[in-house]
Amino acid sequence: MKIAITGTPGTGKTSVAERLAEQTDMEYVSINKVARKKDCIISYDEKRKSDVVDVKCLREKTGDMEDCILDGHLSHFMENDITFVLRCKPSDLRKRLEGKSWKDQKIQENVNAEITGVIEGEARNGNDEVYSIDTTNKSVDRIVEIVSKIAEEGGGEEYKDHFDWIEKGKIDLNDSNS
Ligand SMILES: Nc1ncnc2c1ncn2[C@@H]1O[C@H](COP(=O)(O)OP(=O)(O)OP(=O)(O)O)[C@@H](O)[C@H]1O
Ligand SMILES: [Mg+2]
Repeated sequence: MKIAITGTPGTGKTSVAERLAEQTDMEYVSINKVARKKDCIISYDEKRKSDVVDVKCLREKTGDMEDCILDGHLSHFMENDITFVLRCKPSDLRKRLEGKSWKDQKIQENVNAEITGVIEGEARNGNDEVYSIDTTNKSVDRIVEIVSKIAEEGGGEEYKDHFDWIEKGKIDLNDSNS
């Protein structure tokens, strides 16, 4: 089985994927590292201070991997059996990202990406086995528990709906801190 843990930067992908790997026989795989090791980097985006990845190349390189947990904001583009999209309330995400010593603009871009649900939209496009988990006020252990239960036993209908902060009225866009 191949499990993808995706989401906007700072939503807790690495924390969850590593803990999940510790608790199962599945291997932890950072797809950013795979991209670098397997020459799937096209260029470097100076403005965003991040690698530009050839997703098709990465898909090929991860194609044969089995029994693994793929960690990364591009992991939903791989050939997965099941995909988990981690979501985080934008105001909480901002606090998590402030711990990364990124420039304000990069933090704002990622908060905006979370508000508009960019990764959620990409992950759900053409995929059925996609579960969205609101990580706000949930411990890493609790999230791992939810993920393992769905991966092992199925179910998880309450996580199958497209998650949308604006539609759910869970954030107030007039509050610039949202
Ligand atoms: N469930 C959680 N509740 C509160 N804080 C969390 C939670 N999960 C992760 N964090 C914290 O948020 C920060 C980002 O977590 P993490 O590095 O796991 O995110 P990520 O999605 O892997 O980010 P990136 O895409 O940049 O690699 C860390 O400081 C981590 O300790
Ligand atoms: Mg990470």
